[in-house]
Amino acid sequence: MDSPALLLLALMSAGTLLQVQGNVIALYGETITVPCNGGAAPPDDLMFIKWKYEKEDGTGDLLIKQAHKDQATVQATDEYADRVSIDDKFSLLIDQATLKDQKTFTCMVVSGVNLNEYPVTVVVHKKPSSVEIMDKADVLQKDKTSTVGTCVAADANPAATITWTKNGKPLVADGKAILITPSMKVDPATGLSTTSSILQYAATKEDKDATFSCMSTHEQATEETKLDPFPIHYPSEKVSLQIMSKAPVVEGDNVTLKCHADGNPPPSAFFFHIKEQKMLVENSDTYTLTAIDRADSGEYKCSLADNEKMEGSQSIVVNYLDLNLNPTGKVVKTFGETLSVKMEKSASDVAKISWTKNGKVVKEPAFTKLTYADAGVYKCEVSMHGLTREKSFELVVEGKPVITSLTKHRAGDAQFKVLTCEAQGVPEPIFQWSVNNSNEESSYINGKAIHKITVVPKVNLTVTCIVSNKLGDDVMTINVSSVFKEEKQERGSQEDSGDQAKLIVGVLAGLLIAAAVVGLIYWLYMKNSRQGSWKTGEKEAGTSEESKKLEENNHTV
Ligand SMILES: *[C@@H]1O[C@H](CO)[C@@H](O)[C@H](O)[C@H]1NC(C)=O
Ligand SMILES: *[C@@H]1O[C@H](CO)[C@@H](O)[C@H](O)[C@H]1NC(C)=O
Ligand SMILES: *[C@@H]1O[C@H](CO)[C@@H](O)[C@H](O)[C@H]1NC(C)=O
Ligand SMILES: *[C@@H]1O[C@H](CO)[C@@H](O)[C@H](O)[C@H]1NC(C)=O
Repeated sequence: MDSPALLLLALMSAGTLLQVQGNVIALYGETITVPCNGGAAPPDDLMFIKWKYEKEDGTGDLLIKQAHKDQATVQATDEYADRVSIDDKFSLLIDQATLKDQKTFTCMVVSGVNLNEYPVTVVVHKKPSSVEIMDKADVLQKDKTSTVGTCVAADANPAATITWTKNGKPLVADGKAILITPSMKVDPATGLSTTSSILQYAATKEDKDATFSCMSTHEQATEETKLDPFPIHYPSEKVSLQIMSKAPVVEGDNVTLKCHADGNPPPSAFFFHIKEQKMLVENSDTYTLTAIDRADSGEYKCSLADNEKMEGSQSIVVNYLDLNLNPTGKVVKTFGETLSVKMEKSASDVAKISWTKNGKVVKEPAFTKLTYADAGVYKCEVSMHGLTREKSFELVVEGKPVITSLTKHRAGDAQFKVLTCEAQGVPEPIFQWSVNNSNEESSYINGKAIHKITVVPKVNLTVTCIVSNKLGDDVMTINVSSVFKEEKQERGSQEDSGDQAKLIVGVLAGLLIAAAVVGLIYWLYMKNSRQGSWKTGEKEAGTSEESKKLEENNHTV
């Protein structure tokens, strides 16, 4: 149909001109489909359909489709010439949507009796081509607003909205701990908007595991970009000195001091104040005092190398325990001598002292007159705070052997006698006997030696027991009667009961003899007094000499 005819028609049906406003949202880069009259079927008497659009300076023709023709005629001569087409429902198709296509397109439907126009507004939307976080922080500072990152949602229409979240919860700017700076930029060539948002945040220690993310919201797509948790840095607020060695500290220990600061990252350089000296330690937080001495007791300090006001201190008590004992080792003393024992201790605290002799608890030893019973191993142990010192000496009491008893014993009518010689002396004495013997038995305990022998005296014997060691010897004798006829030879020790019975018989016999002698003497006296001569001197002297010898023998002990 020709333009003048159309105009005519338009004038004719001015009263029935219909304008219906429609809306189409298209996607950027894709084909825009603009339906005609909402996609309703055209009237039966359709003559043609024409698509046009509004320009600043009037109207731009796009294409026209005659009802009876298969092909539409493209009228556009501008940039739409190659991009427009029509489908079988008379919808306008525009290839490669851009924001410049956001216009009002009008479908004009011309029939035999009517001319209707259906304008449709096209809006082109685009989701952001990317959502990224730039300028990411490496760490966050405690209580100091620092930039977490800049979130950028690029080239969208309409502009995307950016929100920040922490652990999934939206962060709302408060002007103090949370600062959010949004910005938007429109590309003049494409008209697309790039939205940015800078998040600045003052962290707390608890944010150490927090996940920050940027949410880009757009009707076409909502996208979340997460950040890995940040380390939170903060300066040390407390510095303490720790003593790493096990307590108690004892002289000679190596004591390691550790300077602990609660900042993050932990400080790497410290000063250790060791006895007026300031030692710088780098890349370590420890300092070791080797072989600590009692003079090292006192206050120790450490501080941060970059902030000496931050310091911690600790006092160290070096425990010590010394023990001196005199004598020590093996001490050989002679029976009856004195021995003074001197124990000296010095300790950092009250020490417990204990003495043992041969493993048994005893009082502190003091010897004024040594006996064999004093011999033994004496140990002094002092202890304090788990520290123990011990010293010991072995006391040996030596003495020349001394016979304490020499006895004989006959069991009933046995054809032998058992002689027992007992002596004291150290070292162990050697026993010698003047007779042949058998069944030797000996014991030696605590300086006391007992030696037993069995003899068979066929005749009366004087038996000698000789004891000796390197310090001297002792001798004792005993008269042993023949086993066939007994005689008491008591010396320092009891005679056995069998011998005593015989003694009684002997005494009785002796008395009878004595009575007879007295009788005889009386008779002789009576006879001599009649004669006038009497001599007794010789006999009396002999008797006194015999008793003297007996005395001597008794004293050989
Ligand atoms: C103390 O340290 C020194 C040197 O580092 C070492 O030779 C010694 O064995 C240590 N002493 C103790 C009791 O650990
Ligand atoms: C002791 O015994 C030895 C041999 O056994 C012997 O020769 C000696 O005569 C004996 N001495 C006495 C006093 O019996
Ligand atoms: C032995 O001693 C007893 C009593 O002392 C005496 O009676 C006896 O005659 C003595 N025998 C010899 C052989 O000497
Ligand atoms: C032992 O006998 C002798 C004589 O045989 C005598 O001289 C001596 O005194 C007696 N000794 C003792 C201790 O009886």
